[in-house]
Amino acid sequence: MEHDGTSHEVEAEDGISIMEAAKSNGVPGIDADCGGACACATCHVYIDPLWLPKTGSRSQMEEDMLDIAEGIEANSRLACQIRIDGTLDGLVAHIPENQY
Ligand code: FES
Repeated sequence: MEHDGTSHEVEAEDGISIMEAAKSNGVPGIDADCGGACACATCHVYIDPLWLPKTGSRSQMEEDMLDIAEGIEANSRLACQIRIDGTLDGLVAHIPENQY
């Protein structure tokens, strides 16, 4: 979901990241400058609180990258670090207004 409330529903196969799913389906607002290497923090998203338990926790590397992003909240994640599997069907992620 974009910051202005625009909603996008995408189909994605298991094993890809939610960043890849968003990019390949033309969802705006995720830059992903490093291509998913956990090295840029421009794929920042806010995971809907209802889905937080299913998306797991941040790795140390992800924590370090989020330290350089702005607007970080408890539900902030890097979209390239969440892999889709059957348990994430219906996952809701909110895209920040800007990626820094
Ligand atoms: Fe660069 Fe996710 S795409 S950290």
